[in-house]
Amino acid sequence: MPDVSNLKTTRVSSDQWAEYWSQGHLTTFGGPEFEDGYQGNIKSFWLQQLPGLDDGASIVDLGSGNGALPLLFARELEDGPRKISIVGIDNAAIAPSDEFKKYRKRDARVKVRFKAETPMEDTRLKKNSADLVVSHYGFEYGDPEKVVREIQRILKPAGKVAMIVHHEGSYIVRKARGMLEQARLGEDERLVNRVKKWVRDFAAGKSGTVLDKQAAQLEASFDRLRTQAAQFQDAHMLAILINGGMAIAMKVQSDADEARSMLKEWITEYNAYRLRMEDICAVAYTNKSVSTLMDMMKEQGLAECRMSVLNHENGASLGLAITARAAV
Ligand SMILES: C[S@@+](CC[C@H](N)C(=O)[O-])C[C@H]1O[C@@H](n2cnc3c(N)ncnc32)[C@H](O)[C@@H]1O
Repeated sequence: MPDVSNLKTTRVSSDQWAEYWSQGHLTTFGGPEFEDGYQGNIKSFWLQQLPGLDDGASIVDLGSGNGALPLLFARELEDGPRKISIVGIDNAAIAPSDEFKKYRKRDARVKVRFKAETPMEDTRLKKNSADLVVSHYGFEYGDPEKVVREIQRILKPAGKVAMIVHHEGSYIVRKARGMLEQARLGEDERLVNRVKKWVRDFAAGKSGTVLDKQAAQLEASFDRLRTQAAQFQDAHMLAILINGGMAIAMKVQSDADEARSMLKEWITEYNAYRLRMEDICAVAYTNKSVSTLMDMMKEQGLAECRMSVLNHENGASLGLAITARAAV
């Protein structure tokens, strides 16, 4: 059996994911592009998985989050002739939107339910019960060997698995690396500590000389970071640091309590975003580790194992698309 231990990394905790999903996000993409669900080539890839599903078919989504994939499938299938059931599995306490209410109704043709706080390594779904197992940036967060075994267990004979996973060369992973570089620039400036100290000393009424010196250092840090931000195509991490830090540094001059609570929120937001970026880099497949994964899938008995790069309409790589079938 190939060694896949290096493929396993889960760094953002379930509680942190739960906190993220409780904010009402549908996906983990930052921008407005996927606010209403997956579009473009991602959507096309997923819709290509649906033909061939019979009436009464069952789809299982591993690492579903708030249900971007179940929603895409439900919207596509709700007016069709087939009855379909979809189950979203996630380790975290997720918070799917009210739009799912209609897919819980008795007479709904497409039924969607979620099993929150449930590991994809042990879904507790029935053996041979799924026609299609899917995962969008979910599979790679689990233990690959255990998850492949679980997929094999729940799939019906000839059932299909389709996944999109992070890859080191994708623009998402490259962007995450860029965000971590920006975080390091903030750390080189010791920005969070400087802002914390400024709030503490200003609120404590320290002498004008001490505060003047600190203000000058803080301003110089902000200036340097602003200059560095211009070198990045997307400087979201530096924007969090600069805009948040400046707002707090100003606020303490009129309302120390409010500044302290802003400081807490700022640090939480920064740490959570940073951790998600670290996580993406940690779970992303390399060419070598994905080939190990494909070998392991074959060794575990999956057939027709295929892997290709999935590109955005603008040509940028979004990650790897992996498909396979359970043996007949
Ligand atoms: C990047 S999110 C992807 C969410 C969703 N598939 C989407 O496209 O928006 C990864 C999700 O995997 C979940 N997760 C991580 N490890 C897991 C595990 N071992 N079992 C089940 N879910 C897990 C996390 O809680 C998180 O919601």
